[in-house]
Formats: sequence, C-alpha cells, structure tokens
Amino acid sequence: MPNSVYPVILESSAQQVLVSLVHLSIAEDGTDSTDILKRVTELAASGLQVARASIWLHDPNQDAIVCQDLFEQGPKHSQGLTLLRKDFPSYFSELDHSVVIPANNAHTHPATACFSASYLKPLGIGSMLDAPIWRGGKAVGVLCFEHVGGPREWSESDRAFAAQVALISGLYYERQERLAAERALREREAMERNNQKMEALGRMACVIGHDFNNLLTTMVGQTEMLLRPNVPNEQVRHRASVVLDAASRAGALVKRLLNFGKGRDATVMQFNLVDIIIAIEPVLRSTVPPRIALEFHLPNTPMKIMADTVSIEQIIMNLVVNAKDAISGEGTITLTVSRSRDSEGGDSVVMTVSDTGCGMDEATLYSAFEPFYTTKGDQGTGLGLSTCFSNMRSLNGNITIASIPGHGTTCTCTFPARG
Ligand SMILES: Nc1ncnc2c1ncn2[C@@H]1O[C@H](COP(=O)(O)OP(=O)(O)OP(=O)(O)O)[C@@H](O)[C@H]1O
Ligand SMILES: [Mg+2]
Repeated sequence: MPNSVYPVILESSAQQVLVSLVHLSIAEDGTDSTDILKRVTELAASGLQVARASIWLHDPNQDAIVCQDLFEQGPKHSQGLTLLRKDFPSYFSELDHSVVIPANNAHTHPATACFSASYLKPLGIGSMLDAPIWRGGKAVGVLCFEHVGGPREWSESDRAFAAQVALISGLYYERQERLAAERALREREAMERNNQKMEALGRMACVIGHDFNNLLTTMVGQTEMLLRPNVPNEQVRHRASVVLDAASRAGALVKRLLNFGKGRDATVMQFNLVDIIIAIEPVLRSTVPPRIALEFHLPNTPMKIMADTVSIEQIIMNLVVNAKDAISGEGTITLTVSRSRDSEGGDSVVMTVSDTGCGMDEATLYSAFEPFYTTKGDQGTGLGLSTCFSNMRSLNGNITIASIPGHGTTCTCTFPARG
C-alpha cells in the first residue's frame, strides 16, 4: 500500500484534477506563475496519491533540468534544484525519447537507478513515474511523481494521467510564452506611439520657437529704438529697458524650446555621471522636504557616459521630483549609480532613482511615459517622464520603471558605458 498522505481517490477524481489543471493553465495573464506551479504540483500529487510531485524545465542547451516547483508532504514547496545531464546520462536520454518513464522500482530501473544512493534512499522513495513535457517535437521539461515507500506498480491509468498532466503543462508553458510575446509587442507599440508623439511635440516646439523668435526680433528691435539717447522721455526709456530685459528672458526660453524640438542640447561629451550628481546634489536637497531622506549610493570609480549635462540634470531632477511627489509622509529617495555587463558583454552605467512612495497601479505604469499623461491634475504637465524617455533615447540609453502600488517605485536609466 502506498505511503501517501492522500485518501484514496477514484478515476473520476483524477478526471476532476485534470479539469482543474486545465483551468489553471488558462489562468488570466499576469497571475503569479509561482502560485500556479504550486497548485499544479499539489494537484498532480493528489491525482496519483503520491507524497511528492515536481515540475522541471530544461535549460536552453538541454544540459540540465531545473526544478520549477517540488511539492512534498508537509505540505512544503521548494524550487531551484538542478540536475545535470552529465551526472545522470541514462535518465536524460530516457527523457529525450519517452512519453512516460514508469520506474516501478526506481532503484533498479535503468533510467532512475542512478538516483538510488544519493537521492532515492535518503528520501525513502521507492518508485518514480516521470512524464516528459513535449513541445514542438522536443522535450522541454518533465513532471515527476515520486512514491515514498516500497516499489509501486504504475497502472495504465496512472501512466495516462501522468502523460495528460505533462501535456497540460506543455500547453500552459506555450500559452505563457505567447502571452509574454504579446506583452512585449504591446510595449513596443506603446513606445513607438510615445516616440511619435514626442517627435510631433518636438516639431511643434520648433515651429512655435522659430515664429516666436521672429516676432521677438521685431519687438527687441523696436524697443532698442526707444532706448536711444535721442528719446527724451526718461520714463519711456526706463520702461523700454524693462521690456528689453523681459524679451531677453523670453529669448532664453525660446532657445530651450528649440533645443527641446531638436531632441536635446547640442553639446554631447564624455563625462563622469557621478560628478554631475554630486554637482546638483544641493539643488536636489533643496527640492526635497526634510521629512524625506535623500540617500546617494555613488561609486568611487568613474562612471563615464556620453551625454550633455542639461539632459542628465533634467532626467535626475524629473525623477527626484516625481519620487518626492509620490511620498506623502515620511520616506526615502535613493539614488544609485553602478556598472553592469549585459549578456552580449556590453558595459552599461546604470542609474536608479527609488522611492518608498505610493507606487503606480498598472494603468499609470502603462501610460507613465506618454506625453501629457499626469495623475496630478493642474499640478502636473505630464511631460516629466516623457522628457526623460526622449532624452534617454537620444543618448542611446534606456529608461524603465518598476513599481509596486503602496510600496514604491524604481526608475532605472541605463547608459552605454564609455571607457
Ligand atoms: N516615482 C513615482 N511614483 C509614483 N507615481 C509616479 C512616479 N513617477 C511618475 N509617476 C506617475 O506618472 C505620471 C507621469 O509622470 P510625469 O513626470 O511624466 O508627469 P507629472 O509628474 O504628473 O507632471 P510634471 O512632471 O509635469 O510635473 C505622474 O502623474 C504619476 O502618476
Ligand atoms: Mg513629473
């Protein structure tokens, strides 16, 4: 008699388990996959009345399988155990060919005997039933049912059940991959739309800036005439000088508008990102009220990037102001800089601005980079993050946001490292 924690269940119960598994496999997009896999192993174990059931995935090279979830009596769940093909060649080669591996006596079965001393005996496992997960003619993982106790004769329906669970698991993983691809496509499209909006905004800024500049030239010219010594009225001359001063400020504003239209300030050069942050630290501190701690984690080594200081200052300022706005009571804003290497060996400088504020819900996160998107009513223009986004793009960098509602937000800016 199997040493099991489960009461005996009938064929129809096994069917019921399969139906539950199908429901799980089509769970709503965004449901936590860890929770789903826990339910899968629990249901799988209950379907065959075994003490242990686990689900494993092959690594991309098919050199190893990694445990996604192991359910065992307790109940207890664990993940992450890895088995290497080179250590268990006979088991792996059987996985490559079988629909199920019914190891009635796991200690003597040619595929599973290799686990006997190190794994089966210490855990008291007498029998194993493994069902590879197949996709597109390739085994991508395996479902393992482990019976604690002596040998167990796996019936025809046991094997059919194991194969069905593996099939449903395969469909689950296929659906997850499709959903992830659809998500990535939606994100790319949203990014593209943002780019187009920013470009349109930039063009509009250029046109307005250009026409406004022309009008300004006329206004300045006429006002300068009022300042000539031959204009007798002192009061008129004084007022003209005030107008001229305002006009010169308007000229500076127009210049900024034109720079925005071009994407960024023209002078891009190599500099240490840490130096800029240190230089604007006093400004940042004056922006943040005393109830909010502002912390810096900056490395001593240079973090060289190619950029223009105006863009970088604008990005940091926008992110810190947003972080401040997100914290209603006390809290902390943390600015970090570090270096990272991507999978292709490219070096990046990574700057993060994290806060312990309100976080963003899914809808806000989705639209945060859109120009004019704001949740701050009249208090916000909704141009902060979209400006950061277009600045980062023009610096060949990238900006991403991770946020948990009620817990906080982290904005990550990644720049290609120089030197
Ligand atoms: N750190 C953050 N925490 C929570 N929500 C944020 C954070 N940063 C941005 N947001 C959300 O993203 C929206 C867009 O931000 P963005 O900086 O583009 O505009 P804004 O801050 O609303 O306006 P402006 O920057 O013009 O003052 C914000 O209204 C807010 O809802
Ligand atoms: Mg903002």
